[in-house]
Amino acid sequence: MKLRLLISFTATLYGLFSATAQPAAGRHTSRPGVYAITPQTALSYESGLAPLANYLRSYIDVETTGERMSADRAIVLSTDTTLGGEAYRLTVGTDHIEIAGGTYGGVFNGIQALFRMLPPEVYARKCPLPAEIPCGVTEDAPRFAYRGMMLDVARTWIGVPEVKRYIDLFSYHNINKLHLHLSDDEGWRIEIKSHPELTEIGGFRGGDSPVRPVYGKWSEKYGGYFKQSEMRDLIRYAAERNIEIIPEIDLPGHSRNIASVHPEIRCNYPPDTVSTNGYDYRSAWCVAREENYKLLGDILGELCELFPSEYIHVGGDEVDMSQWEQCPDCRALMKRRGMTDTHQLEDLFMERMASILRSHGKQPAVWNEAVRTGAFTKECRVHGWESVKACQDATTKGYRTVVMPGQYFYFDMRQSPREDGHDWAAIFDAKKVYGFDFSAFTPEQMRNVEGLQGAFFSEAYISHEPEKPDYLDYMLFPRVCALSRIAWSGNAEGWDAYYKELKERHYPRMAAMDIRFRLFPPKLNYKDGVFTASADDGSKVFYTRDDEPGELRLTRPLRTDKPHLYRFYSRYKTARSPYVTDKSYWRTLAPAVTITTSMGESEKFPYTNAATYKGLSRTRRACRQKDWILYTFDEPVKCREMYLQTGNRQLPKTIVTTGYAEVSYDGVKFEQAGELEMGSITLRPGRPVKAVRIVSTCDDNGTPYVTIQPPQVKPVL
Ligand code: ACM
Ligand code: ZN
Repeated sequence: MKLRLLISFTATLYGLFSATAQPAAGRHTSRPGVYAITPQTALSYESGLAPLANYLRSYIDVETTGERMSADRAIVLSTDTTLGGEAYRLTVGTDHIEIAGGTYGGVFNGIQALFRMLPPEVYARKCPLPAEIPCGVTEDAPRFAYRGMMLDVARTWIGVPEVKRYIDLFSYHNINKLHLHLSDDEGWRIEIKSHPELTEIGGFRGGDSPVRPVYGKWSEKYGGYFKQSEMRDLIRYAAERNIEIIPEIDLPGHSRNIASVHPEIRCNYPPDTVSTNGYDYRSAWCVAREENYKLLGDILGELCELFPSEYIHVGGDEVDMSQWEQCPDCRALMKRRGMTDTHQLEDLFMERMASILRSHGKQPAVWNEAVRTGAFTKECRVHGWESVKACQDATTKGYRTVVMPGQYFYFDMRQSPREDGHDWAAIFDAKKVYGFDFSAFTPEQMRNVEGLQGAFFSEAYISHEPEKPDYLDYMLFPRVCALSRIAWSGNAEGWDAYYKELKERHYPRMAAMDIRFRLFPPKLNYKDGVFTASADDGSKVFYTRDDEPGELRLTRPLRTDKPHLYRFYSRYKTARSPYVTDKSYWRTLAPAVTITTSMGESEKFPYTNAATYKGLSRTRRACRQKDWILYTFDEPVKCREMYLQTGNRQLPKTIVTTGYAEVSYDGVKFEQAGELEMGSITLRPGRPVKAVRIVSTCDDNGTPYVTIQPPQVKPVL
């Protein structure tokens, strides 16, 4: 008791409603007075809301009085159907707090609104009590019924504890759908009891698995999967937090994994495996093979049983239809049906998926390619990912559409040019996400917009690298914040106002949520031999020198005549910014080089592309042990650093999976210079280099070629 009295002196007043963050509070009316939540505050709830009372109590240590609707000195949870859907009304009076929601989800949203009025520590379950909240009434409702996030647990395995953590983090942001990408070429992540081999074999790749290593732990056996019991637990955990899990099995393409376990599902022609050391990397289901629909019926039947969601996502994206064109059975089927285009074959396949789902009382969700012809059932829900136009087209054709063009909402894209992540859709940060608007959509198209969704595809999810423990958090936040804001209430307040709110109100909350989020980079200036750097978000600036270990705080201007050695960044609690440097840091030389390999040269991508620094080259086949790539410089090259990359670090499947580098100073004698890491190595030779060689220690890289990049040679400055 004494302790509590003591704490009461330190209680602070929270709830600056004009700056309430994530998402914005709707209509708010202030009233005089404050309400203080204390440990004695009672919590009562309407029948059916017990999970929310337990949820609230797990964050704020108040007393529960059960289902009695006591309004005195209490927080009261109730539903009010006049509010509708996920709307809520949060009333803070001097003697009670009432959280009313149109549905369970509305009450959950009201609880989140209450959290935002409390000190950030509430998210760490350490809210100092008593906590005083100004009286008033807040009423709000979401702009979109669908506010989603997608996690690709297939390419990189993301297990139960991590998914639960992201469910928590997304739910703090009023995200209400979690789309789990459960299968792809590289992994199968959901137990199918009638076909245990799908996870027992397909849940793991590399090592002795028939699924080749690619993306991730390289030659080591790597993977994992959800047991159905674990998934049930996740579904319940998410539902308590107003999140519906929508499963995806990606069909009929992106299916190399299941095809490695069940090779018979592929088309009826011998694959060309000369360039892949015998590996059949075809990824599509044969549409004409009738037995396939039995297996698909088993799989989808179990998913329908397991997942309460109305929609089951069955993929439909990026199908390699050349496999159907080469298949006599698929061709015969097309002929029988009078089809002239393989997209019609995809329609036929997807209709069969829809019919299986319908027989279980479910509807299909699909990627936008599946509605290219417009013939697929209008009962489906479309996820528009290829472009804004693809989303518009789907809505025009009459499909309910989740808008998630990669250019704005693929959070596996890098956030500035030198950061990790993909760049094929765009390079963008939270500001661009926030700036997404529907100005290109007509009112008719808008009527078919179901909502917005962000996605993280995990080809380049490299969190298992010890130096990148924060990768997924960093890629997701604050981009998820911006997504959730525009999905909840739009962006009418403008970026400057939103960014202010983000920094001042939401950064402390994300730190309390233990999110290792990305800060915007500090402003860096190098002039007259002096670096200055400043951050506008209260973060502290640090720097490192490439030739010295450790990091130092930048507290005053830094004088140096070697600006190319420095990298600067800022830190705020759990967050960090990307590095910023002087442009000299990235200056490279292009010394004349000849490239040769033991793997043969692609006709379309000859070695001269890389040797003239004009682009990528490819070998003619995948690598085997002892294969080599040799870079011979016309003249010995003096450099401070040489970076050799096989494949593409941002899409690491065309690399030499494991291997090492050798360096030669005379072009004759070679010495070991280190192991490759993700197909690459940075050398810091002390002497001029005449040649470097990469030697493979792996059999195969899961792709019919190895990509060769130009060497990146940094000069001695
Ligand atoms: C996708 O990115 N292929 C849906
Ligand atoms: Zn076929």
